[in-house]
Parts: sequence; structure tokens; C-alpha cells
Amino acid sequence: MYDFDKIIDRSGTNAYKLDLREKYFGTDDLIPLWVADMDFAAPPEVQESIKGRASHEVYGYTIRKEEFTNAIVDWCAYKHLWSIKDEWIEYSPGVVPALAFSVLAFSKPGDGVIINTPVYPPFYSVIGGNERQILKNSLVNNNGRYEIDFDLLEEQAKMETTKIYLLCSPHNPVGRVWTREELLRIHTICQKHNVLVLADEIHSDLALFEHKHIPFASVSEEAAQNSISFMAPSKTFNIAGFSTSYVVTANKELLEGYRKVQNNLQLHMGHLFSGVALTSAYNKGRNWLAELTGYLENNILFIENYLMENLPELEFFRPEATYLIWINFKKWEMNQKQLKEFLACEAKVGLNDGLSFGTEGRGYMRMNVASPKAIIEKALKQITEAYHK
Ligand SMILES: Cc1ncc(COP(=O)(O)O)c(C=O)c1O
Repeated sequence: MYDFDKIIDRSGTNAYKLDLREKYFGTDDLIPLWVADMDFAAPPEVQESIKGRASHEVYGYTIRKEEFTNAIVDWCAYKHLWSIKDEWIEYSPGVVPALAFSVLAFSKPGDGVIINTPVYPPFYSVIGGNERQILKNSLVNNNGRYEIDFDLLEEQAKMETTKIYLLCSPHNPVGRVWTREELLRIHTICQKHNVLVLADEIHSDLALFEHKHIPFASVSEEAAQNSISFMAPSKTFNIAGFSTSYVVTANKELLEGYRKVQNNLQLHMGHLFSGVALTSAYNKGRNWLAELTGYLENNILFIENYLMENLPELEFFRPEATYLIWINFKKWEMNQKQLKEFLACEAKVGLNDGLSFGTEGRGYMRMNVASPKAIIEKALKQITEAYHK
């Protein structure tokens, strides 16, 4: 029903992915497969709702009614078989801001926050930028599949100053969907050492290839009491520009602690379109998401086959979720600067620098595959041709 092959010209929209190419890569003459949004149109149902509201000529202060929390409760039940209550939910103006508010609310300067590196770059800044200590728990690459080092986790959680574990689930950039066993082990360690789990589940709706996302808070009653989940329709439906997300926790004190910081910073209002964007996506976007998932899986399989045939020395682990692929270029034996320059200036393809996710990312790049297949194919050909030259 939906045309994901359609090539949409995003110029003139101030798109981060396009309009920051010059600044990030030193050239705007490249195919941008970096920043994590999609080159697909948002679901037509969402477009209609936004246009419908935009056509009313008064854009005054707006509130979110119970339809906002109802849509979230229904979505979590439908998508994750997770039964939540409306009083567990609070709006947030973006997942990253919400993570920062939580770090401020539940730790003090000098306290430790654990993260699984390589990881989404703002994880470093919400911790370090707020004068908390970054505790790197490097993921272990077990034949291409990344796993958590639980012994190290126990050591880190045990430390008196460790207060928070910032879990990326599913994980960006390595693409893991954590299993129930892994989540339970995390929970057991964190519960034992009184470490709060902040679960960034922004990619949860994009589990692929039969993998099933399990909300951290759903693994047990105790885990629900010792965690906050951070979710949003933004990645799922390509509506990140609306800066609309939400937090969920069954623990009243945690919710109050979160609200206090958000309210004190006066960031609780949101904007006119936040309610419209979220409710229309969750209430009307199910079919679109089902088709999108199939399209993304096809793109990933296509890339896998292409690389196997043409550049077999490049390794990547098939992502279990989301549209980001973490590719290992180490066999090319270029240093990071050469690799970046080669891809941007010779292949003319813009990927995210692996090093921006942490030192473990040396020799890696992250590719965003949420583009029409023709674009992906063109980018792969450009990389192959430039390499053979
Ligand atoms: C793990 C993760 N968290 C959060 C975000 C961004 O969240 P927001 O735009 O709601 O701040 C991203 C975007 O790529 C992400 O990958």
C-alpha cells in the first residue's frame, strides 16, 4: 500500500542529514546515509492529521488530553504485549532530553553511570556534560554478535558511587535486541547494587527478522519498580522533527522525580503538534509499520548479499533491530582519517564515523539503510567502484 521506493527530494527542508553534509564531511556532494532518520514519507495517515490541524488558523497553547496516554497504552499492549497504566506515563520533549533530566534527577555530580560502548554519542554527553562519571562497559564482540560483559557490569554496579545504568535497548549502533535472559541478568545485578536502570527503548518498534523487543520493565515486578523506560514514535514513523516522546515507570517516586526536573526546567508543555503526531501514528500507523519492517529487512538482506559478492572483506552483523548497520572496515587497513576521507570524497557516500560512538568504533562505520533500495544500491556501487580504483 505504501511506496517506500519513491525517491523524495528533501532539499529545502533544512534536513540535518542533507544540510549538515558540508560541515560534517567537508562536501555536500555525497549520498547521505548517516543521521538516524529515514528518507521515506511519514505515514499518509499522520500527514493528514498534521495537515488537518495545521489548516486551523489558530496556533495557541495546547494541552494533551487522555487520548495521548490512551494511544500509548494501546500501542505498548499491541506492539510489545506490555500492559501499562496511563498514570505511569509522562510526556517528554525528546528521548535525549528525558535521559538528561533523569541523570539530573537520580544522581549527583561525580556519581557513576554505566553505558555499553560503542553507543549512541549523546549517551556520553548526557552523563559527562552533567559532570557525572562515564563507566564504559564495552560490549564483547563474540563472532560478530555483541554481548554484555556481566562480570565487569557487576564490578561497576558494586561501586558505591554508581547510581545509574543507561541501557540502550535495542542497541544503537550494534543492532542487538537483548534477550529476556540478558535483561534479567542486568536487572538482578542492578537491583542487588541499588543501581537505577534507564532503558532507552526508542528503537523498540523496529525489531526485525522475528526478533522480539522485550521492554526492560516487563521482565519482572521488581524491574518495573527499578527502571524508567524512554520511548517515542519518532524513529518508528519518521517523525523525529516533532520532538515528541514519553517516559513510563510504574514507580511513583521515580515518575515524580522525573517530573520535578522537567517541570522546573519548564519543558513540560510540548507543542501544538506533539499530541497530533503521536496519536495519529500510534492509532493509525500499524499497517504502515508492518510494510516498513519488510522493506527494511529486504534492504538489509540486499546489502548482505551485495557485500558478500563484491566486498567480502567487510564484516557486519545482521541487525536484530532498527535501520542502522555497524560495518567493520578493518581489513582495508586504512586509518580512521583515511577511511572517512575515502568514503566521503572518493566513494561519495556519507556514513557515521565509528569513532564517534566510542574508541571501540575505530575501523567501523555506521550505515543508515532507511532509504529507497535504488539509493542504497547506488551507494554500494560507488563504494565498490572507488575501492577498486
Ligand atoms: C538510542 C537513541 N536514543 C535517542 C535518540 C534520539 O532521541 P530524541 O530525538 O527523541 O531525543 C536516538 C536517535 O538516533 C537514538 O538512537
